[in-house]
Amino acid sequence: MRVGFIGLGNMGAAMAAGILESGAVSPSDVLLANRSRGKAEALAERFRGAKVVEDNRDAAERSDVLFVTVRTDQLLGVLKDISPVRAGVHVVVVNGAVPLVRLEEVCGAAVSKLVPSVTMERGRGVSLISHGPSVTGPQMGALGSLLSPSSLVKELPEGSMDAAADLTSCGPALIAEMMQQFAESGARHGIGRQDAWEMVLETLQGTALTLGSGEAADSLKDRVATKGGITEQGLKVLRSNLPQVFDQVMEVTLAKHAEARSRLSERS
Ligand SMILES: NC(=O)c1ccc[n+]([C@@H]2O[C@H](COP(=O)([O-])OP(=O)(O)OC[C@H]3O[C@@H](n4cnc5c(N)ncnc54)[C@H](OP(=O)(O)O)[C@@H]3O)[C@@H](O)[C@H]2O)c1
Repeated sequence: MRVGFIGLGNMGAAMAAGILESGAVSPSDVLLANRSRGKAEALAERFRGAKVVEDNRDAAERSDVLFVTVRTDQLLGVLKDISPVRAGVHVVVVNGAVPLVRLEEVCGAAVSKLVPSVTMERGRGVSLISHGPSVTGPQMGALGSLLSPSSLVKELPEGSMDAAADLTSCGPALIAEMMQQFAESGARHGIGRQDAWEMVLETLQGTALTLGSGEAADSLKDRVATKGGITEQGLKVLRSNLPQVFDQVMEVTLAKHAEARSRLSERS
């Protein structure tokens, strides 16, 4: 299976590196295309054997699975440029704004949407997938096997992608912000800023390992927050404030998704 990547910016490069690092595909089966060639060359330098192709059409022509990882406003231009796509190619678009039916119409090929996470580069994170009507069972299987060594793959109906993307794709930034705010509060209460950050980071990693090993969140909280103790006071504050904060985050981000969708549908 030959795997092509068009667009090697923040997301495309992290995704290509995650997939290659995981061993899901050999570098010699990878084709790289980016508007400014240097980004493709840098990746080919890191993963010896990966090929930098002449242009986007070359990548489309020679790939079995083709990841298109450009920005929303660049997407339709790139897809129109490579279409009609060779029969049998599975186009995977890293963008939620254009409906799958429309994407398949533009490409004349099977298209899936993928919402990845930058943390794939570290072999962890969630890949959200939604398949267009023309995607075959073997194509679904092949995409899953490319992504699952570097991420947890979740297939969803197209309509559920936006809210899920908040949790998984925006998630690393949102969680980083929460952790910074936690550490900054420590710094405001007398701990050195660097020490506070290291304490929060290590505690985050320990907590993720504990929860990831199967302990339920409620059980962990019960073990830390003894009745009438200190942690319980902190939990009360979080419980009374966080539901509104997270609902507000969802509302503004979902509104932004809808805005991007309506801007694109006017243009396409
Ligand atoms: N960043 C994230 O965490 C994240 C997470 C999930 C999803 N996404 C999605 O991923 C997509 C890309 O975001 P990004 O942050 O990676 O953007 P980005 O850093 O701007 O990357 C876009 C890349 O596409 C290249 N490109 C633009 N037009 C092209 C063309 N005609 N042919 C070939 N390459 C072209 C650009 O090349 P140049 O070097 O010439 O500019 C750039 O390297 C967006 O839809 C975003 O919503 C991002």
